[in-house]
Amino acid sequence: MSTTPATNFSLPARVLHWTMAVLILAMLFIGVGMVASISERHEWLVQIHKPLGIALLVLVVLRLFIRLKRGAPPLPADLPGIQRRLAHLSHLALYLLMFLMPLIGWSMLSAGGYPVILYGPVLLPPIVPENPLLFAILRQAHTYLAFLLFLTILGHLGAALYHGLIRRDGVFSSMARGKP
Ligand code: HEM
Ligand code: HEM
Repeated sequence: MSTTPATNFSLPARVLHWTMAVLILAMLFIGVGMVASISERHEWLVQIHKPLGIALLVLVVLRLFIRLKRGAPPLPADLPGIQRRLAHLSHLALYLLMFLMPLIGWSMLSAGGYPVILYGPVLLPPIVPENPLLFAILRQAHTYLAFLLFLTILGHLGAALYHGLIRRDGVFSSMARGKP
């Protein structure tokens, strides 16, 4: 029995994609805002940044599970090979960075000996041993990878708009809405 491949991402995949897109962009701006501020807003932003980052880690695990179980709609058959490879590579980079950013945030606080406060008295355990050198490396990595994530998102946004407005090949609507 043959089944036609789905032309659109499933509802859970789409809900997760758009929810996480908004939250990740918010995290990037909160991150930059909090390190640039020495006012009382700094503490307030850090208190949002940590639990939201951990929530994103939980969401990306769920998202990867759904992705592996349900797959993705095929790209248009006439899409040039280089664009096809770039699409796959950039999606891989986005998944990797969605995992790495929260894990590095959590590890760097553990390495620095800081408590990872989720909410009130709820703490997360350290995931790496306390080590000042490791803290310094992970702190730098958190900044550079955030920059890389931002650049990858810009490229992804450009590609999405190219598909939606210029090629009009159904790739944009595969993530924007359900089956026509
Ligand atoms: C933080 C921002 C974003 C992240 C991390 C992100 C991540 C991803 C990932 C990983 C995929 C691949 C889905 C899969 O195969 O499982 C994807 C697909 C897609 N995204 Fe995003 N996305 C973001 C923002 C956006 C924005 C702002 C748009 C549109 C304006 C967009 C449009 C799309 C479209 C159309 C697809 C389907 C493309 C395809 O199958 O090749 N995304 N996104
Ligand atoms: C998707 C997840 C995350 C993103 C996109 C993100 C992004 C950022 C950005 C852009 C900065 C500013 C970097 C700089 O300019 O030097 C930052 C700083 C920081 N992030 Fe994250 N982050 C994420 C997850 C986490 C998590 C899960 C934690 C901890 C549990 C965390 C802890 C921190 C800390 C402690 C700082 C530095 C605060 C300071 O120096 O005052 N981040 N993050």
